[in-house]
Amino acid sequence: MAQVKLTAAVASQEKLAEGIYSMWIKAETIASQARPGQFVSLYSKDGARLLPRPISLCEIDREQGQIRLVYRIAGAGTEEFSHYQAGDLIDVLGPLGNGFPVDGLEGKTAFLIGGGIGIPPMLELAKELSCQVQAVLGYRDNSLFLKKEFENYGSVYVATEDGSAGTKGNVLDAIRENGLHADIIFACGPTPMLKALKAYAGEQGIPCYLSLEERMACGIGACLACVCQSKEIDSHSHVHNKRICKDGPVFAAEEVEL
Ligand SMILES: Cc1cc2nc3c(=O)[nH]c(=O)nc-3n(C[C@H](O)[C@H](O)[C@H](O)COP(=O)(O)OP(=O)(O)OC[C@H]3O[C@@H](n4cnc5c(N)ncnc54)[C@H](O)[C@@H]3O)c2cc1C
Ligand code: FES
Repeated sequence: MAQVKLTAAVASQEKLAEGIYSMWIKAETIASQARPGQFVSLYSKDGARLLPRPISLCEIDREQGQIRLVYRIAGAGTEEFSHYQAGDLIDVLGPLGNGFPVDGLEGKTAFLIGGGIGIPPMLELAKELSCQVQAVLGYRDNSLFLKKEFENYGSVYVATEDGSAGTKGNVLDAIRENGLHADIIFACGPTPMLKALKAYAGEQGIPCYLSLEERMACGIGACLACVCQSKEIDSHSHVHNKRICKDGPVFAAEEVEL
């Protein structure tokens, strides 16, 4: 089934940490077909902000027909969403993008690595993977949003930039300090983190899937606002580009130049 645009009701909204919000939306047709690592585009009610804002699926509740979005206030669009309450209506397009590959991992150990606002999409992945999960979460400080929820699905290691919780430093520092190893990496977060993980996966000789969060415009593959450099020639643009919104946001690390 293709993506749908619908007007959805907010089921609940909650503040998780300073500037970080969690919103459940009733969107049955999106929830029924969505996969971990996919995202939706949220439309502002302010006509001056025409472009929708892409937000990853943090959780998918197929039984209740709801999706959960966890987001940081970055500007006017996300600020507007943070004021929505249960019953408010919001236009949503989705599910968009490809999502993480989840099959064939029985008996393996996976690193689920999230940096900052790249942490939310790893939660649904943690729920759906059938292998052993080691979540490595990188925060600025001890806000530690979603950490407790990850503990339901595997072991959790934390790195903070200011050293206020877990390992002082980044996610790779936490991996090294705790002597962790895995058979495969799934990650989402800032580009420097993804770049370092791509190099680490190459050294370790393990597969690595990265979710890129580039700025977007159309969100459906039409405008080329979100391209990244790729090894292969893109069938749409015929150059070494991939559209993050359509071909991604998840790529095998060796597929993309960061
Ligand atoms: C596939 C995808 C999934 C995403 N998932 C999430 C998520 O789960 N939670 C979340 O909080 N955010 C997520 N983002 C980022 C989110 O889309 C932006 O923060 C949001 O669009 C900003 O809109 P705004 O109107 O609030 O701010 P704007 O006024 O549009 O921008 C405010 C600031 O944020 C920066 N910014 C805008 N878009 C991005 C972006 N894509 N990446 C980095 N910086 C950006 C701008 O450069 C500017 O400095 C995702 C982005 C993509 C592409
Ligand atoms: S945002 Fe338009 S092609 Fe990706």
